[in-house]
Amino acid sequence: MIDAICEQAKRLPYVVPGFATEPRAKLSKALVEVMPKGLEKYFFATSGTEANEAAFKIARLYTGKYKIISRYTSYHGSTAGSIAATGDQRRYPVEPSGKMEGVIFGPDAYCYRCPLGLDYPNCGIACADYIEYMIEHESNVAAVIVEPVVGTNGVIVPPDEYLPRLRELTHKHGVLLICDEVMSGWGRTGEWFAVDHWKVAPDILTTAKGITGAYIPLSVTATTREIADYFEEHYFAHGHTYEAHPLTLAAGIAAIAEYKRMNLIERSCEIGQYLGDHLSGLQKTHNCIGDVRGIGMFWGLELVRDRSTKQPFNTREDKLSGKPLMVDRVVGDCMKKGVFLQGWISTLIIAPPLTISQSEIDQGIAALDDALRLADDELR
Ligand SMILES: Cc1ncc(COP(=O)(O)O)c(C=O)c1O
Repeated sequence: MIDAICEQAKRLPYVVPGFATEPRAKLSKALVEVMPKGLEKYFFATSGTEANEAAFKIARLYTGKYKIISRYTSYHGSTAGSIAATGDQRRYPVEPSGKMEGVIFGPDAYCYRCPLGLDYPNCGIACADYIEYMIEHESNVAAVIVEPVVGTNGVIVPPDEYLPRLRELTHKHGVLLICDEVMSGWGRTGEWFAVDHWKVAPDILTTAKGITGAYIPLSVTATTREIADYFEEHYFAHGHTYEAHPLTLAAGIAAIAEYKRMNLIERSCEIGQYLGDHLSGLQKTHNCIGDVRGIGMFWGLELVRDRSTKQPFNTREDKLSGKPLMVDRVVGDCMKKGVFLQGWISTLIIAPPLTISQSEIDQGIAALDDALRLADDELR
């Protein structure tokens, strides 16, 4: 990775984005091979939030409609468009002036806490049907944006029927489906992209982070030939100085080669199973764990005060007001043992590097096992 970046710096460290460059062509070729079928045109920027901003603009210009449906349990970035589409409490402080207009929110595919009060599979995936109801009753909907597996907000894996159903109904209504794979892409879930698990091809896929293994900031907004062709004749009023920056593209090419050379996507599946089994094991001895869920190398432990009522330790309001959170105490205790994980309101997010060894996972689980006593003690 480092050699690729240095080599590119010697050959062509920068050129304005209007130029075709060798790394741009090579990365595009490499992306076509790994992206879900049909996503063959790419807009390169440097962060996940920029990738989503471009996606919204593409969707609105292409469809001529302006509403975007997002979901309440989501994060899509911190700039005006992406924060507007963010369902979690990071949006609240910027309302109403710090965000774009036209975003509305639908229900989450969050079976542990179904927003419609239903139980899977008897629910008939009503959360997807309700999005169709919104499309029909709102009109003027350009796109639906989802994290195929919700990331920061608790690693929420949808039921198998959900994304295919969403694909079907968005098609039916001429609404674009944008899948935000900033977190769930690049082997995190055990496939190149999370949508691959359900064989769903979105109209637009956004991604960042893993595209360079985070060695250098790069993001991509990927779309179909049909949508991209529209902009051959229509002005795409968008761009950045650092768009398609050669150093970032060189890192992307090298990262894809490394994912393949080290079989990291397959590895994510295999070692992810090991990780998941051990995390599920913790639930047997820690009553504070309400739910263990995940896929590949992407796991969440949701902590509760009471398993029967599912009462959480903390709320969005606690996070907003800066109140000390139970998950932060657990994370802090793990840090003392040299293990980092992310706490988010009442969920612990476990997303280790795809290169982690089995013994490192054991070390992480042991630290977590110990730290979770802090939450167990609060139950007594
Ligand atoms: C799902 C998702 N979308 C978008 C973003 C924003 O990406 P960035 O921080 O690179 O702007 C994030 C960041 O964590 C994310 O998790």
